[in-house]
Amino acid sequence: MNMNHLVLKLSLVFFIHFSTTAQQSIDIKVAELLSKMTLEEKIGQMNQYNGFWNFTGPSPEEGDAKVKYEHLRKGLVGSMLNVRGVRDVRSVQKIAVEESRLGIPLIFGFDLIHGYKTVFPIPLAEAASWDVKAIELSAKLAAKEAAAAGINWTFAPMVDITRDARWGRVMEGAGEDPYLGSLVAAARVRGFQGEKLNAPFTIAATAKHFAAYGFAEAGRDYNTVDIGLNTLHNMVLPPFKAAADAGIKTFMNSFNDLNGIPATADAYLQRDILKGDWGFEGFVVSDWGSIREMMDHGYARDRKHAGELAVLGGSDMDMESSIYINELETLLEEKKINLAHIDDAVSRILKVKYELGLFDDPYLYCNEEVEKQITGAQEIVEASLEVAKKSIVLLKNENNILPLRKKGQKIGLIGPLAADKNSPLGNWRIAAENNTAISVLEGMQNYKDNRLSHAQGVRLVEKVPAGFHEEVAINTTDKTGFEAAIALAKKVDVVVMVLGEYGFQSGEGRSRTQLGLPGLQQELLEKVTMANPNVVLVVMNGRPLILNWAAENVPAIVEAWHLGTQSGNAIAQVLYGDYNPSGKLPMSFPRSVGQLPLYYNHKSTGRPGAEGEDPGSVFWSHYGDEKNSALFPFGFGLSYTEFEYTNFQLSTATLDRSGSITAFVDVKNTGAVKGKEVVQLYLQDPYASTTRPVKELKGFQMVELAPGESKKVSFIITEADLKFYNAKQQWDAESGIFHVYIGGNSLVKNKRSFELN
Ligand code: NOJ
Repeated sequence: MNMNHLVLKLSLVFFIHFSTTAQQSIDIKVAELLSKMTLEEKIGQMNQYNGFWNFTGPSPEEGDAKVKYEHLRKGLVGSMLNVRGVRDVRSVQKIAVEESRLGIPLIFGFDLIHGYKTVFPIPLAEAASWDVKAIELSAKLAAKEAAAAGINWTFAPMVDITRDARWGRVMEGAGEDPYLGSLVAAARVRGFQGEKLNAPFTIAATAKHFAAYGFAEAGRDYNTVDIGLNTLHNMVLPPFKAAADAGIKTFMNSFNDLNGIPATADAYLQRDILKGDWGFEGFVVSDWGSIREMMDHGYARDRKHAGELAVLGGSDMDMESSIYINELETLLEEKKINLAHIDDAVSRILKVKYELGLFDDPYLYCNEEVEKQITGAQEIVEASLEVAKKSIVLLKNENNILPLRKKGQKIGLIGPLAADKNSPLGNWRIAAENNTAISVLEGMQNYKDNRLSHAQGVRLVEKVPAGFHEEVAINTTDKTGFEAAIALAKKVDVVVMVLGEYGFQSGEGRSRTQLGLPGLQQELLEKVTMANPNVVLVVMNGRPLILNWAAENVPAIVEAWHLGTQSGNAIAQVLYGDYNPSGKLPMSFPRSVGQLPLYYNHKSTGRPGAEGEDPGSVFWSHYGDEKNSALFPFGFGLSYTEFEYTNFQLSTATLDRSGSITAFVDVKNTGAVKGKEVVQLYLQDPYASTTRPVKELKGFQMVELAPGESKKVSFIITEADLKFYNAKQQWDAESGIFHVYIGGNSLVKNKRSFELN
């Protein structure tokens, strides 16, 4: 062992020793504090309230707010959500710390889904970057900005696997694949929580929604979920497990019932798997009112029963049902629950508070000066621009219509979202100001020599406020803008059309049955394309949309999601070729709503047809009126250059359980510009004790290549990559043949095989 190794080893031993003793001392402190707490105070820690009034103003005299205020003073509140900004956080914390008997600090929760004041791309977009480092940085800087505003706990990441674009919340996750989803989940946990949770800019994270919320029947939010153990363990749970393994501090359960049991009361999920098998030591918060909603589910008889079921099921903190605070004492007297349940929940909550450093300094996150410095800091804005560029996916580019020329080309910019500064902020931007995104128009105007004209074509109209923010919608009746848009199209060399969903058209409670371009946009697109076929379609959206007509008739399509504060700059840099697009789809784009749910890692069925598409017969698994395949598949995305894959080889044809196989491929940039390619490795287990997906992503690497340059890319495959939840209900790899695919998207056909002994 050389000196470096010795130093490394000693510091590792010291680190493990130090963190173990630090952990032990937290456990001791928790136990000591617990022994001083009354039952009422313990139950108070399990109670979370929403923010309710401006604490620097006069105290409310009556109603709900008065009750909450009283509860804060009596130490009957463990956490608040949606209180933000140093001034407000400090004043609420002050009540808990200075007025309650034991002065236990509050933990402040907030939905930091894609940024705080500086808005980052929606998570689905960031997943399209396949750049886990960039995603980690995005979470880290979002945490920094939020922590500077007093927040110390985020209800993110959402790690739900999503297969159905009708569900509005697909925008919040990393898409349909458990492998990509797991890497993204772990990256976000590292980003939010950092190395030291009690450092000033790190915050506790939450894996949500536990579990299977993304499998809501028919994509309708909050709907029933009925899936088997096979899908639960192989598809739904892996990203949650990855978050737990990355040391996440909290979990949030979900609104749905799962196979007949509301997730909020599901002891199999929360007690057996999470706190049992996975050894999770943090706490579980309910979703908003989900304890109360168990009555609507038809699972709890009344509020008290709901409290009993939630406690027994393993929910430690009650978000906004006010059931724990009102019912747990009686439940204890009636012996429906016991003190050990309460002590366990409270210990978990206190432990996270200790780990955050809140007992050392309850105002750790409360410094006005720091808040001013950090809010909107250059470093955060720059990172949001970088990841926004990386999130863009080029779906089509015929005749090299893109990139646009920076000089001498007449460009018509058309569409309701072209100058819109609000929609690119996406759905979860509670702390951001409205209309603060750079629009595509502004982004393109930065290119001074272009000859750019703009027409809206379809107006945005005011919508009745339905969420946290004023909303707009895309006009469905007024065509008065068509004429000017068509006239403009006729005069220019190229048309850039910015169409899609307005910012709040996806997100919570925003399920849809129609996934074409909303309102009059499809008609506008067709009319403009008739006037000038040189159309570049830029799509802004929070979910896969159906783009069949555009895919047939429009030469270029750029998938630009809702990219946040820097949206217009990112899009303009891609359109003008200053950034060569490298994103790949994290979700399949369907041809029709009737195909949903649609995902690449499906099972084969007993009648798969030839190559999955066989119009010659009837009795195979297909539709009479549509293909089975996606319009744009998972993993797909183009570049301004092209890549060639050759010399695909495996190092050996057999894999021993303790050994590994290396898969190699040469990837060459055969085009004229530098570019990045996400090289993807898929595996298939063609025969097993349960049926297995036709393909599963098991690795990827991003390579950057100059024109003509070639690189050997290699992946190491071990037994761990072959494991799945099998017929014996064990996570294991079964002996036999496996197929390996390497390529640029999930349709890759080129395969090699090996045998696991
Ligand atoms: C309900 C949502 O389902 C959840 O994701 C969110 O964290 C809470 N509301 C709090 O805002």
